[in-house]
Order: sequence, then C-alpha cells, then structure tokens
Amino acid sequence: MSSVASTARRTISPGLAGVGLRTHALRLDNLSSDRFPRPAEEFLLASRLRRCDRETLLSIASYAADAEVVSRSRTDREPQAGADLLPLAESGPLEAGLTAALASRRSVRTWSGEPVRQDELAAVVRHAASVSAEGVADLMDGGSVPVALRATPSAGGLYPVQLWVAVLRVADMEPGVLRYVPDRDAFAPHGGPEAVDSLLASFDVQDGTVELDRAAAVLLFVARPWRTMRKYGPRGMRFVFHEAGAMAQNAHLAVTALGLGAVDFSGFYDDESNNALDIDGVHECLVHTVIVGTPR
Ligand SMILES: Cc1cc2nc3c(=O)[nH]c(=O)nc-3n(C[C@H](O)[C@H](O)[C@H](O)COP(=O)(O)O)c2cc1C
Repeated sequence: MSSVASTARRTISPGLAGVGLRTHALRLDNLSSDRFPRPAEEFLLASRLRRCDRETLLSIASYAADAEVVSRSRTDREPQAGADLLPLAESGPLEAGLTAALASRRSVRTWSGEPVRQDELAAVVRHAASVSAEGVADLMDGGSVPVALRATPSAGGLYPVQLWVAVLRVADMEPGVLRYVPDRDAFAPHGGPEAVDSLLASFDVQDGTVELDRAAAVLLFVARPWRTMRKYGPRGMRFVFHEAGAMAQNAHLAVTALGLGAVDFSGFYDDESNNALDIDGVHECLVHTVIVGTPR
C-alpha cells in the first residue's frame, strides 16, 4: 500500500509517463496541466445560466404554452399498464416532531435484522415522494388543469426523480423491487427476489461498516434527467441531484421520527446497479440510495 501511495503522490512533473496511478488528489495537484480531462468541472461550466442564452430562454418559455402545461399536468398520471398496483398501508405514527428529528438524526449503519412494518415503510415513502396537494395551472385559453404537487420541491414541477424501494425485510411483504407511483399512492412491482439479490451484489459493503444483510429496505432514487434537461439544458442535471437529496433528507427525517435508522449509501457500482434495476443508466439511472432498518 505504501508503495502505491508513494507512486500516486508523484506529480506529473518531470514526466507524465512516470505516473502509474492517477488519484484524485494527484489530479488536484496538477490542475495547471491540460493533460487530465476534468468532466465534473466541465459539467459545472456547461450548466451555468448565462444572460441572453436564447436557446435556454426559448426552451423554458415553451413550457408556458398550453400544450406543455396540459402535458405536465398528465405526467405520471398515466395508468400503470399491466401492473398490479399494491396500495400503501396507512402511515405509521411519527414519534418525534421536526425539531427533535432534525436534532437526533444520525447515520445508522447497524441494524437488528428485525423487519420494519408496512406502515413505517409507507410513512417514509410518503414523506419523500407522495402527492401532498392538488394545485391548479392556468391555461392561456382561460381554462385550467390540475397539477399534482409533492412533498419535496421540484424545478418546474417536473419531478425527474422517482422513488423505488428494494424490500428486504418488511413484515408481510415478499422481497422485491417496487416503484412508488405517487399519483396512485401505490407500489408497482418491478422485480422479484433475484432483482434484489443482483442489486445488493452491486453494493460495495466489504469494509463491514454498513450491515446491509440486516437492513430492511433500500430506498432507490431513480432519475430521468431529460425530464428537466429538456427544459433547462445541462442545468437540469443539477436539479436532479438537488431533488434526490431533498427527497433523501425527507426520508431521513421520517425514519428518525419513526425510531428507525438509515444511512445514505453511495458505494454502489452504477453499471451493475442499473443492470439489476433493468434501466439503461443514462435516460434512467440510479442516482442515490438510502438504506433503512431497525436499529440495534
Ligand atoms: C451523498 C452522501 C453519500 C453518503 N454515502 C455514504 C456511504 O456510502 N456509506 C456510508 O457509510 N455513509 C455514507 N454517507 C453518510 C455520511 O458518512 C454521514 O452523513 C456523515 O458522516 C455525517 O454523519 P451523520 O449522518 O451521522 O450526521 C453519505 C452521506 C451523503 C450525504
């Protein structure tokens, strides 16, 4: 390990050829070099809002047209063809208020292996992703259409992040992958136990700090970036990450208030996770996860 570290810390001077491992720290140490691509910073630059960017202004303005407003009001309202929807249980009671939940929330990585109840899972899911109000959008022709508003804010009300759940240990539920359908307040089955196994195999928990094998459920934040990028361009990708974080925090607060424990988990191998979920990883991709369980 020490020889690896020693190689890795070498700067590209006097010669790039002498460097075997290019750690992220080495990249930082050599920002003055143009030899390393900088995709993350290029994304920041590409997603800046600029004055008089007519393409972006036109794209945003087009969303005020009646056809777009009507289309948005119907998004996610389409019947789930062929799916046997599972209605969510009534939400379980939260034991703590907002201030107490904010103060006591901590990442929990060890669990008892006890199943969580369906009403507890329902409470977490609803706090993160449910429809909380029916709003009204005015049309230019004088009419109006209903719009479903959710527990977390969303840029342009486009809701690019879906909440899926991998059920591991939930009372009276089979292991499987479920998609939460906010409009119906129900789960749509997406995959069976084999999908769960593949998903869990894509999580790197080898250091043992996260007891995945005792967890009860994994919240999966699955994004469709073009929902917001069609309107906002690359900046829409910022909104995807922002909104996944907002949903995750709502889930954390509900978990804490229920007396459960959760941790954000980013150590998933994207290609393997997306394969397990049967999504292409670009137009639809897993952007974040939160592992939930009964604390020890
Ligand atoms: C985006 C994000 C990703 C995270 N990924 C992991 C992870 O993969 N494994 C882990 O054990 N904790 C993960 N965490 C949890 C942080 O380590 C934790 O929030 C931090 O140490 C602060 O502790 P607290 O949450 O108890 O306040 C993540 C947190 C965030 C916000």
